[in-house]
Amino acid sequence: MRIAVTGSIATDHLMAYPGRFADQLIEGRLDKVSLSFLADDLEVRRGGVAANIAFGLGSLGLRPILVGAAGIDFAEYRAWLEAAGVDTDSVRISESRHTARFVCTTDTDQNQIATFYAGAMSEARELTLAPIAERVGGLDLVVIAPNDPEAMVRHTDECRTLGLSFAADPSQQLARLDRAEARRLVEGADLLFTNEYEAALLQQLSGWTERQVLDQVGTWVTTRGADGVVIARSDSTPVTVPAVPTDHVADPTGVGDAFRAGFLTGLSRSWPMPRAARLGCALATEALKTIGTQEYRITAAELIGRTDDTVVSA
Ligand SMILES: Nc1ncnc2c1ncn2[C@@H]1O[C@H](COP(=O)(O)OP(=O)(O)OP(=O)(O)O)[C@@H](O)[C@H]1O
Ligand SMILES: [Mg+2]
Repeated sequence: MRIAVTGSIATDHLMAYPGRFADQLIEGRLDKVSLSFLADDLEVRRGGVAANIAFGLGSLGLRPILVGAAGIDFAEYRAWLEAAGVDTDSVRISESRHTARFVCTTDTDQNQIATFYAGAMSEARELTLAPIAERVGGLDLVVIAPNDPEAMVRHTDECRTLGLSFAADPSQQLARLDRAEARRLVEGADLLFTNEYEAALLQQLSGWTERQVLDQVGTWVTTRGADGVVIARSDSTPVTVPAVPTDHVADPTGVGDAFRAGFLTGLSRSWPMPRAARLGCALATEALKTIGTQEYRITAAELIGRTDDTVVSA
């Protein structure tokens, strides 16, 4: 199964300031802020939703096609993804902008000052799927994950025009969509991914009831954190799949992306959806146990072997 994953490619630059921001902010002088904090720790983490999902798919033995825009600084990240089995030949490299970057400094009170630079990501709208499908000999599924909003709409429209199966995964970008856009990203999707919060937000934004959303899509997969996953279809009773519990929660960032990678790997093996969701939950827990979104190390055969088809019905 050839899966193209469209969406953001980014790095997180996380710094720790061993003091309190509040001590530097002087009341009455906030109209001319010029502050510099001496951080004593910097961690650079590879991320971006599409890169995270593609990394997970590659780690499970697939060769996903990453579709997104990055900057000239992408070389090292590209090598990392290729080593994980990701096809990066369809990543567009911007001539003038750097790869999207999240820069965040945290103080000893856990207050944060952060900036997200979208950079090259805005050029994702220039990408078209048809030549990519041609290069790889056809696409069986296109994942439309958070990205430059215009790119998300364009990729979705192109899937409909070309008759390509697609998975709508608007996640954190939902918040900035209007009604027409929210509907446009979901209509005709084979798969829809949300977490519980996004499920409610999608209904509010689209003005569609749960039933009406289900009528628009093949299958709606909603992740519920430690409570696992619900798989719903308009023609059958929803099925609940439990999460894989762990006592070692290190970092919840990127668990949703890991779930998607495991779930899609299961589908690529023609497994029934509940079993695919078990693999998704297993990979999500691996991500939960490690700091960073692409730091887990798994043996694909071992993780796949551990996945049985235990199902608890809702
Ligand atoms: N505390 C937990 N224990 C076990 N599994 C968890 C836990 N939290 C999340 N998971 C797993 O990760 C999956 C996705 O989690 P969740 O619903 O929190 O996604 P999310 O809110 O989209 O996360 P994010 O966007 O931060 O990656 C869950 O379905 C579950 O399998
Ligand atoms: Mg999420």
